[in-house]
Amino acid sequence: MIPSRELLSEENRRYVERAREVAEKYVLPRAAEWDRTGEYPWAAIEALREYDLMGVWIPKEYGGHEAGLLNLCLVVEELSRVCGAVGVAYMVNALGSFPIILGGTEAQKRRYLPAIARGEKLIAFCLSEYGAGSDAGSLKTQAVRDRDAYVITGDKKWTTNADAASIYTVYATTDPEKGTRGISAFIVEKGMDGFIIGKKEDKMGIRAVPVHETHFRACRVPKENLLGEQEGTGFYNAMMTLDRARPGVAAQAVGLAQGAFELAAEWVSKRVQFGQPLIAQEAVQFMLADMATAIEAARQLVYAAAQAADQDLKTLSVLSAMCKVFASDVAMRVATDAVQLLGGYGYVREYMVEKYMRDAKITQIYEGTNQIQRLVIARHIVRWMSGRDGLLSEFLNVTGARKPENLRSGEWIPL
Ligand code: CAA
Repeated sequence: MIPSRELLSEENRRYVERAREVAEKYVLPRAAEWDRTGEYPWAAIEALREYDLMGVWIPKEYGGHEAGLLNLCLVVEELSRVCGAVGVAYMVNALGSFPIILGGTEAQKRRYLPAIARGEKLIAFCLSEYGAGSDAGSLKTQAVRDRDAYVITGDKKWTTNADAASIYTVYATTDPEKGTRGISAFIVEKGMDGFIIGKKEDKMGIRAVPVHETHFRACRVPKENLLGEQEGTGFYNAMMTLDRARPGVAAQAVGLAQGAFELAAEWVSKRVQFGQPLIAQEAVQFMLADMATAIEAARQLVYAAAQAADQDLKTLSVLSAMCKVFASDVAMRVATDAVQLLGGYGYVREYMVEKYMRDAKITQIYEGTNQIQRLVIARHIVRWMSGRDGLLSEFLNVTGARKPENLRSGEWIPL
């Protein structure tokens, strides 16, 4: 029962049905095993290909469905309901390909997007570095023009899908003096000289999806692989990409919360203590009510952000940060409560609930920590309030109260 899904269109529901079929037939039976062994979920990617779900967000002229972010989020949500790792293994292809969709030349789009849309090739995203996580603009990887090529040197952290992918969007500075305005983006292919997939991280959750360090040792990429026409547009490209990708993380969080909730609701309906099912206890009912309400609220915020992206609204950036912070906090809380409701059974691997808690944690961290999302939201509020009188001033006018000396408007308040 997902009450607010009633508001979706026929097309949205068709995506939900297809994704749910993939999730239940091909992911659910193997999620525990993939979590245990860390084996890449190729069977899930294969099924997503067969069900023609790999190019949902890619424009039609490059072989995709052009079905937008809302449908992408619905697919991610359904996959994550049964396995958070498969949700992100799928979604990272959007994170990696948005830079090309947003900033690539026509030739780059024609060269790279169709294979991604068909699911023949996976694409990953290389922005973060050891010293540049939240402060993405301080990245040190450098790209130097050398005749008909750029030579990239540096080390990247947290490349999700690294060895499963064969195409990478990579951010490097072409002019360190210019700070964020000197950052450029490049398309790197697996096998290019000097591109190395390094250490695999041993993670708490999303264990089936590999996250590696990636290294660029004088990696030579043709000059045509500079993303777009000019140097220096990389940081904007990364920010615009993250605005569109964060709702995907939030959708993953909603799916995880939904899955954990369903496991817990079923458990308390069947588990008998003190002569009756646990769900007969009001204390348990109230927990379920809070969990379900939080999930629906998070879901609607994700759908609103996705629709803002699909309608190219300026509110996308703030809604994207809001849905990411809210949905991931909900996922963590709901998954923790689900473990609590199963008691000791929740704490052991066999019942799978603890996996939701482990998988949920990363949604508060990657694609911008929740502290960074709050910073983005706060900056919007400060910008919005600078130079504008509001309701308080209206009331002061009506009541005739004197404005306190230091209550002035029209000032920029720097953060
Ligand atoms: N859209 C377009 N442009 C934007 C923008 C946006 N949303 N946000 C900022 N910009 C522009 C600014 O307008 C500014 O432009 P000018 O220089 O022309 O004035 C420029 O970018 C620099 O902006 P800021 O001064 O705001 O930059 P900042 O250094 O203060 O950083 C930040 C801003 C929001 C903190 C940013 O660094 C950020 O988002 N950090 C988090 C990074 C992140 O999410 N990393 C995760 C990577 S992916 C991952 O986790 C791995 C994975 O595979 C899943």
